[in-house]
Amino acid sequence: MPIFTTQDGSHTIIAEKFGVSYHSKYGAITESEHVFIKAGLYLKAADKKELSILEVGFGTGLNAFMTWLEAERLQLMVKFHSIEAYPITLEECEALNFAEQLNVPDRQADFINMHKSSWEQNIQLSGSFSLYKTQSLLEDYSTQEKFDIVYFDAFGPGAQPELWTENIFVKMYDCLKPGGILVTFCAQGEFKRTLKKAGFEVERLEGPPGKREMTRAKKQ
Ligand SMILES: C[S@@+](CC[C@H](N)C(=O)[O-])C[C@H]1O[C@@H](n2cnc3c(N)ncnc32)[C@H](O)[C@@H]1O
Repeated sequence: MPIFTTQDGSHTIIAEKFGVSYHSKYGAITESEHVFIKAGLYLKAADKKELSILEVGFGTGLNAFMTWLEAERLQLMVKFHSIEAYPITLEECEALNFAEQLNVPDRQADFINMHKSSWEQNIQLSGSFSLYKTQSLLEDYSTQEKFDIVYFDAFGPGAQPELWTENIFVKMYDCLKPGGILVTFCAQGEFKRTLKKAGFEVERLEGPPGKREMTRAKKQ
């Protein structure tokens, strides 16, 4: 799949199957940091030393990698579980410039290790970060586990309407702990109504560059 450079200098990939890019053209790292790290991880890290995160869409591994680096910085223990139906190739992940753009060029090997690590297994990648990747369609996924945070990072409702339904968000609600949060770049009105129907309390937050708003939703 083609790779291009977004406005903050970090790469993203174009998903030809869906006709969209994996991240915002205004900045892949900027978007991940704004939506998932600051609005998601930081909120929960304020009062916890151990966090479990479920991500929908492992993709390039950028959210996972940034979460790993932040977990070390904040001295947090993070259990990161990610669902991905269509993994990128090793060749694609080796071409991505995230470690360099995040000023941690010495962590490139760690970034690659996340991609190389086995599926359906808990892999302790460092003292503060473990990764469990599940290769599955979100529609088919089920778990008994309960998470503190959901990073909902599927392609948008325009590209994948089947993933932005009440059924899916009831499933997301069920796999959160009480007080758990879901964060996503999407802020469409219909989507927010769907979240409310699924039981969430919905909060509108300022979006990353190029987007007016994003959404954070809380399990009561
Ligand atoms: C916006 S990208 C995710 C970006 C990723 N979080 C990152 O940090 O690079 C959306 C991802 O969802 C995956 N995906 C698409 N349809 C899916 C489905 N039905 N179930 C699970 N994953 C899906 C895509 O392959 C893609 O990797």
